[in-house]
Amino acid sequence: MSQPILRVRLARPDDAPAIAVLIRRVARRWILPDQSREAGQAFISRINAKSLREKICTGQRFYLGYLADVLVGVSGMRDDCHLVHLFVGTRYQGQGIARRLWQRTMRDAVRRAGTRRFTLNATRCGVPVYLRLGFRATGPEQIAHHGLRVTPMKMILPTPGRKRA
Ligand SMILES: CC(C)(COP(=O)(O)OP(=O)(O)OC[C@H]1O[C@@H](n2cnc3c(N)ncnc32)[C@H](O)[C@@H]1OP(=O)(O)O)[C@@H](O)C(=O)NCCC(=O)NCCS
Repeated sequence: MSQPILRVRLARPDDAPAIAVLIRRVARRWILPDQSREAGQAFISRINAKSLREKICTGQRFYLGYLADVLVGVSGMRDDCHLVHLFVGTRYQGQGIARRLWQRTMRDAVRRAGTRRFTLNATRCGVPVYLRLGFRATGPEQIAHHGLRVTPMKMILPTPGRKRA
């Protein structure tokens, strides 16, 4: 089946409310069921327009994926090396949107900062997807400082020009 045309752009501060709506909606459905009630509620309250706007204004990079004029996915990268968010609206999942958002997010970090090592903390339903994207777990599932149950993962890109033995 042909892939839908996804338009990806960098978020601006004014996009914060729409990003919050998308992340909260997807997280309620897919992330909260695997988390303690307290950690889930704390996550939802951290995801609000004000805090996202501050993050965008202080340099965290969010990429927005659109099909026509519908916001269908979002990624968030900190310090050009740590993937903080990757969310795709439920009805748009399974169409390669996360992969394309990740490719754009990664490519910009490589271009901007020469990053070769990427990290993230995956919630349970994200782990199989990140494995497909090339990440590997660096430890067992654990409770992070914010209370969410996550698996730390990393990806190391090959050094350009270096041939495999
Ligand atoms: C995780 C999430 C972002 C994936 O988005 P998506 O657009 O459906 O993912 P894609 O279609 O781009 O799939 C990426 C790869 O993962 C694979 N994949 C997708 N869902 C999978 C699943 N449930 N199990 C195993 N592999 C899966 C795809 O086959 C694809 O691999 P391929 O390109 O080699 O075939 C989306 O499901 C989501 O938002 N989930 C809820 C929020 C979440 O868990 N985010 C991660 C938080 S850490």
